[in-house]
Amino acid sequence: MDKLAWWQRDIVYQVYPRSFQDSNGDGVGDLAGIARRLDHLVSLGVGAVWLSPIQPSPMADFGYDVADYCDVDTVFGALADFDHLVAQTHGRGLRLILDFVPNHSSDRHPWFLESRGDRANPRRDWYIWRDPAPDGGVPNNWLSHFGGSAWEWDERTGQYYLHSFLKEQPDLNWRHPDVRAAMYDVLRFWLDRGVDGFRVDVIWLMIKDALFRDNPPNPGWKPGESSHDRLLDFYTADQPEVHGIIAEMRGMLDRYGQRLLIGEIYLPVERLVTYYGHELGGAHLPFNFQLIRAPWNAGEVARIIRDYEAALPPGAWPNWVLGNHDQSRIATRVGPAQARVAAMLLLTLRGTPTIYYGEEIGMTDVPIPPAQVRDPAERNQPGIGAGRDPQRTPMLWDASAHGGFTTGEPWLPAGALGGSVAAMEADPDSILHFYRRLIALRRGSAVLTAGAISDVVARGNVLDFTRFHAGHGLRILLNMGTEPAEVEAAPGRVLLSTLPGGPAQADAGILRLRANEGVILAPEDAAG
Ligand code: GLC
Repeated sequence: MDKLAWWQRDIVYQVYPRSFQDSNGDGVGDLAGIARRLDHLVSLGVGAVWLSPIQPSPMADFGYDVADYCDVDTVFGALADFDHLVAQTHGRGLRLILDFVPNHSSDRHPWFLESRGDRANPRRDWYIWRDPAPDGGVPNNWLSHFGGSAWEWDERTGQYYLHSFLKEQPDLNWRHPDVRAAMYDVLRFWLDRGVDGFRVDVIWLMIKDALFRDNPPNPGWKPGESSHDRLLDFYTADQPEVHGIIAEMRGMLDRYGQRLLIGEIYLPVERLVTYYGHELGGAHLPFNFQLIRAPWNAGEVARIIRDYEAALPPGAWPNWVLGNHDQSRIATRVGPAQARVAAMLLLTLRGTPTIYYGEEIGMTDVPIPPAQVRDPAERNQPGIGAGRDPQRTPMLWDASAHGGFTTGEPWLPAGALGGSVAAMEADPDSILHFYRRLIALRRGSAVLTAGAISDVVARGNVLDFTRFHAGHGLRILLNMGTEPAEVEAAPGRVLLSTLPGGPAQADAGILRLRANEGVILAPEDAAG
């Protein structure tokens, strides 16, 4: 285990700052609130905290529209609060990871104000401007991820600018060396303040086709799906030149030593793994979202694990993610009864796990009435399931009003309070205590932290795999079905079950799993 870097040993925990803990009663979470709750993360056993964006922002996309890359939005606090949070985090042996949003800025960023000021402005080409098509229309057929064309007409200067997301999020031109230099200064600004790494937003979209060719139609698109998916992202995503930029970012981080580069990437596995970079000089962890999209059955999940492991280039370190601020929560996707099985899967697979805040208390999506919708993705394309408010609701700390998240009116409604941290503290059989035991087991086990993985198979509804290291092995058996199941197993000791009062022993060659039960099994003679 000693040979591993911190980000290979540690578990990443994503905090969505608006929703974690409010400290001043304005209904929006803040940095002082996060600092107050760090002990929860210590008791959970995670090692690194990733914060979704905290920089000044008009909040058109809740912080993913940055108006100043080197400051803190007043809703979250000030740079002094950030420095305090770094000290508090490091003081507890935790690492701090920031979101970095380089593909686009806010349309209120001074760079964009200059760029759109006039065509002769030296910053004009910091963004992506094009003349109209001969008929006066948009330059090409590229579409915004949030609906409609990706081009916005600018009356005053008579050109269109590109926005892969909202029109309030103009795309920066990463082919421009001055943009790159300015953004690397941003990385240095935060690295010098002690940040341990970055999660880079939409890293696979940062470069677009130099010839601005039309994207081809997507034959698989069906009415009712996001309008963005009418076309295939041929010329707007995963362009070869992006790897040069990622290598530059990585080089910068490496000069600081032991800093982590995570990339947000939604691509098929054979494309995803190219983001480890040439000679692994790319992202340390290209986020692996396959479990988010997987049909929840043993056969599919076994295949995904095998294919991913087989696709990893030599020396690449795997990672797994069950949820984030853009995706329906795991306990909603697979149902509360399978949430613990999902946790056991995440925390026994090979590679760095990422937990989304609230997963440890089994939080589910909170339905948001139409009048309370905040997410522009839902507002722009209502009713197609694009909205992300349900998975961004306040963390539930206790049974007081709004789950103890705020003394004011929360920006999104809190869910039912039965499942709060405080309620679960009192119940040794709660999912929270289960998470703690599972994480403690993983952290104390060289097999689970550093070991290889093999024999990944489905036996009916049971997902079965083995982890091994230095002569020790552990077998993971996860019943992903709603019926009891039996599997052949050599005599051994159940180190942990997802359910209270689990089978202590696998004897007579048979292990009986209850519905929705997962176990970590140690052979009789092994220390684990
Ligand atoms: C990423 C973020 C998402 C945001 C988008 C545009 O996908 O995770 O929340 O809306 O980028 O920045």
